[in-house]
Amino acid sequence: MSQCCCGEKVRDEKLEKLQEVFKKYKNKKGALIPVLQEAQDIYGYLPEEVLKKIALELKVPLSKVYGVVTFYAQFHLKPRGRNIIRVCLGTACHVRGGAKIFEKLQEELQVEDGETTEDLKFTLESVACIGACGLAPVIMVNDDTHGRLTPDRIPEILAQYK
Ligand code: FES
Repeated sequence: MSQCCCGEKVRDEKLEKLQEVFKKYKNKKGALIPVLQEAQDIYGYLPEEVLKKIALELKVPLSKVYGVVTFYAQFHLKPRGRNIIRVCLGTACHVRGGAKIFEKLQEELQVEDGETTEDLKFTLESVACIGACGLAPVIMVNDDTHGRLTPDRIPEILAQYK
């Protein structure tokens, strides 16, 4: 039997937290969305095995759980990066070269729109106007806004989050 249990331990801790969430919402109406939100906070996304547990625990058909998860943009079925990069492709950013910024990020990170890097450091997403048009072209990394960008500044920005 293997002695190393680090990975297992992490998983167990998460499972314990999830059990706590189930306890908190036991027999409560309208629990599905808050339980999904808390489960996503614990796991970083919603793995299939977790969705199955939630369906079982809340006595809700798995199809309904999937229906909710796929309806709301806040839920994610795939792992997300530690850093979320949102590239604005709204009109103001588009006319000032937003697409070139996006291309540079795709090239640097080797991912497409909506994908996460293999090392789980970054998730890249294109978005519509983020309300900072005066700084176009703009990206957001987590809560930080980076504006008036040129493609050659991208490596230096990414380095801040590695
Ligand atoms: S269009 Fe990019 S911030 Fe408004």
